[in-house]
Amino acid sequence: MTVQDHAIKEVLYSEEQLSAKIKELGAAITRDYAGKDLLMVSILKGSVMVMADLMRAVDLPLGIDFMNVSSYGAGTETKGAVKILKDLDVDIKGKDVLIVEDILDSGVTLHNLMNLLRQRGPASIEICTLFSKPERRQVEVEAKYIGYEIPDAFIVGYGLDYAEQFRNLPYVGILKEEVYTDKE
Ligand code: IMP
Ligand code: MG
Repeated sequence: MTVQDHAIKEVLYSEEQLSAKIKELGAAITRDYAGKDLLMVSILKGSVMVMADLMRAVDLPLGIDFMNVSSYGAGTETKGAVKILKDLDVDIKGKDVLIVEDILDSGVTLHNLMNLLRQRGPASIEICTLFSKPERRQVEVEAKYIGYEIPDAFIVGYGLDYAEQFRNLPYVGILKEEVYTDKE
């Protein structure tokens, strides 16, 4: 048991399970994107693990890029806008863009990001997310590839954080309640 393992109440997906799921997603992407001009776009920081593993599970020539965005809070005039903290380096015009995400929650971030990127003229744009919490959705977002649909619980590990911690856990788990309450 490491220091971080003590903060975990329950392991939801082991390293082995995640690895098998990523391979499954990679095989589907390999089939669907044969002959296309694939650009995988990782949304920082949560999707770095998914990206690193998924790109190796795709048996096709492809490009990668990274973007960091934050959504403005709901209920303000800027609702629907996405703030770009780090933009893409490459021009996506004519490319088959696949957005790689860790988790689809309210959907606000990805909904706004899709609208923004569509204006740049990609040939196609789709989403691959490792996790989705359908109960939490506030706006409709169509993800072509979903690893796991999960209930409304806060998960950490394999890139996912709580207060920037736990991203380096090789598995995905649920935090103990005291981890949240200790911080308050
Ligand atoms: P949304 O879909 O716009 O609400 O935001 C999704 C983002 O919220 C993800 O990229 C994560 O950074 C964060 N997030 C949502 N649910 C969780 C969770 O269970 N654990 C860790 N981060 C989460
Ligand atoms: Mg986060």
